[in-house]
Amino acid sequence: MAKRFSIFTYGCQMNRYDTETITGHLEREGYERSENFETADLILLNTCSIRERAEQKVFSQLGRLSRLKKEKPGLKIAVCGCFATREGEGIAKRQPAVDLVFGTQNIAELPRLLGRMTEGRVVDVAPVEPDFTEVAPIRREGDLSAWVSIARGCDNFCTFCVVPYTRGPEWSKPSPLIVEEVEKAVAEGFREVTLLGQNVNSYGRKTPGGLTFGGLLRRLVEVGGLLRVRFMTSHPKDCDLDMVAAMGECAKVCEHLHLPFQAGSDEVLRRMERGYTGEEYLAKVDLFRKHVPGGVLTSDVIVGFPGETDRDFEKTLEILHRARFDSIFMFKYSPRPGTPAAAMPGRVPEEAMAERFEEALRLQRRMTEDLHRELEGQVLEVMVEGAWEGASPCQGCQEDRGVAGFSGRSRGNHRVQFIVDGPAPRPGDLVDVKVLRGGLHALGGIWPPDSVLMEDSGP
Ligand code: 5AD
Ligand code: SF4
Repeated sequence: MAKRFSIFTYGCQMNRYDTETITGHLEREGYERSENFETADLILLNTCSIRERAEQKVFSQLGRLSRLKKEKPGLKIAVCGCFATREGEGIAKRQPAVDLVFGTQNIAELPRLLGRMTEGRVVDVAPVEPDFTEVAPIRREGDLSAWVSIARGCDNFCTFCVVPYTRGPEWSKPSPLIVEEVEKAVAEGFREVTLLGQNVNSYGRKTPGGLTFGGLLRRLVEVGGLLRVRFMTSHPKDCDLDMVAAMGECAKVCEHLHLPFQAGSDEVLRRMERGYTGEEYLAKVDLFRKHVPGGVLTSDVIVGFPGETDRDFEKTLEILHRARFDSIFMFKYSPRPGTPAAAMPGRVPEEAMAERFEEALRLQRRMTEDLHRELEGQVLEVMVEGAWEGASPCQGCQEDRGVAGFSGRSRGNHRVQFIVDGPAPRPGDLVDVKVLRGGLHALGGIWPPDSVLMEDSGP
């Protein structure tokens, strides 16, 4: 019988993409993936290190797994991902049940590491150059939207961030390999790709003569059968005309830009070493809006960075007002050991941090609701994901009228829940949905847009 493995994934999309690659490697080695970890021969934890809480979860999960191992001595436990890369031996020392620790840069070596595990515990978190000679084996999750990593690592060293230490320096994947990976995903039936990287828009900067990020977008939209291209995350300092012009010109590139600003105060931005001021950030927003009409902007914000004053925080609120983000991810600053900010004076007390967090959240909620209400009456292209059975944003119209409900994503990445007046659309179809209601977390609408089904209740 084939050996079974289970994998738990924490953190960001890049980690989930790594899980797909790890799964591909293990399947090539004859393992079968099992969602029931209690029957697995190998359990992997793909960890995250971006904030303290993510790390704490790892040790509590390892505690549970070590008890399982006592009942099942043949069980092997592996820890990988950002936290594993940073802690290395430390994890194995603190939790003796762990058999294998490998880093984010050692995934391709997994088959060899598994072999070495027969001789005892293995720890390999040494940085290595990526092997870009062939497309890695990938077992993708889902069946419509595929992640494709276009670059590894980060050279920016923002002072709060642990990523450059856990994922190493930036390497851009050669564009022919990316094209091949996208073509393979499309051949498997995927209709959309999301290009992943810590900083996608610095793509190719270290390898002059190759494609820029804008050039890569232009090349990828030529792939037949591919309907949509998305990407994340972009850095404001690398957001240039080449990129936004490609977004504006390429019909398959979705008009959504995730552009983290992190803070509004120039002084805080300087200490974060982000490489731009608040006004420079807003100039990038203008550039995007000029070239990508109707574009949707989202962002990341940190409150309570060391030394952040009330006045500094006001500047963060000002950016929220002026940039008009569709939504944001908001974080309380969390010191990451070994990063420069962790040693900076002026720790913001938890209470002040929580107040700022709530205030920014309240403002953003209002902004999101306003923006979503402005979409009422508009027709948006939606990629159908499947049937939807949740509460109706159209005030019970679905139940009242006995029509089917579906959900999908707009080009701007809004979740859209819509009722269908006619034959059911299939997953992967692009349909034009008329927005009837703009809620905080989703838009409610109807397809086809000229249906008279809702005329009496109106938006
Ligand atoms: N504390 C809080 N938030 C952080 N992020 C990264 N490092 C930290 C930290 N030390 C946030 C940033 C980044 C997102 C992925 O996580 O906003 O853009
Ligand atoms: Fe971290 Fe900054 Fe790199 Fe993003 S750009 S991964 S925040 S160092």
